[in-house]
Amino acid sequence: MRQFDEQTLTEAVVARLKGVKDPRFNQVMESAIRHLHAFARDVQLTEEEWFEGIKFLTATGQKCDDKRQEFILLSDVLGLSMMVVELNSRAAQGATESTVLGPFFVPGAPDYEYGADLSATATVPGEPTWVAGRVLATDGKPIAGATLEIWQSRADGMYDVQDPHAGHELRGRLRSNAEGRYAFRTHKPKYYPVPTDGPVERLLDAMGHHPMRPAHMHAIVSAPGYQQVITHVFAEGDPYLDSDVVFAVKDSLIAEYRKVESPEEAKRLGMPSPFLRLDWDFHLSPADGGKTRQAISARDAVKT
Ligand code: BEZ
Ligand code: FE
Repeated sequence: MRQFDEQTLTEAVVARLKGVKDPRFNQVMESAIRHLHAFARDVQLTEEEWFEGIKFLTATGQKCDDKRQEFILLSDVLGLSMMVVELNSRAAQGATESTVLGPFFVPGAPDYEYGADLSATATVPGEPTWVAGRVLATDGKPIAGATLEIWQSRADGMYDVQDPHAGHELRGRLRSNAEGRYAFRTHKPKYYPVPTDGPVERLLDAMGHHPMRPAHMHAIVSAPGYQQVITHVFAEGDPYLDSDVVFAVKDSLIAEYRKVESPEEAKRLGMPSPFLRLDWDFHLSPADGGKTRQAISARDAVKT
């Protein structure tokens, strides 16, 4: 068959999939082809615009290396990453909601004991903060021995991995104790921009949107028999909660960093006075076969 027009071309391309054995590959490719063609027809794409798009995607690829993944950043700012999170989060009612993993998770961060100071290695001063809570099942049962991977930005809005002179800062792995409790000392995180030296920032600029993420602490919480959750805790009152560049904010994940002015409480916790306190419980769903875990290992390989 030959001599296609804008209507018959789509069917001809889809017909090329007829020898495909994998039904899922077939389904994904057919839908992608149909949507791409429909998009071109919808906007009546010009040849100049098509070439601008090719140049943008080329620049996006050229910005990627073993530390930087501009394509994932593109997916993040177009809301595709959060769409995939939504489609794949099958948490039970009452479980902590999932949100984006982001590029700054580092596998193999140091292990810390209950009550440890994750800010001990900080090279940038920050507001002393005590974070404490429990890991619970959705039925309220405490989960002992849960693993909490924690990471967050420094008070200058940077992650340790963005600073070539920093080691591990404000990140680590903890375990919940026999009562399901965890606690550690850190700094209050700060809002920050996603990387602004690449084509994605130029796109954001053209869209008239800032590159900022509201202040948050990241957590991956897992325990045998429960579904792992990849989540954030956002700081209440942050100026970017309503305009997060990657659409990751959930109302249920916003919490207060409360100022504690009691010298007795500071003394009891080994904190300076005054200090900030974040009280936060994580709620895990019963296991679903480890679906979310695969998402992490796919992203471990790349950094934005
Ligand atoms: C982050 O939260 O660390 C993040 C998420 C998406 C893009 C960039 C950063
Ligand atoms: Fe982050």
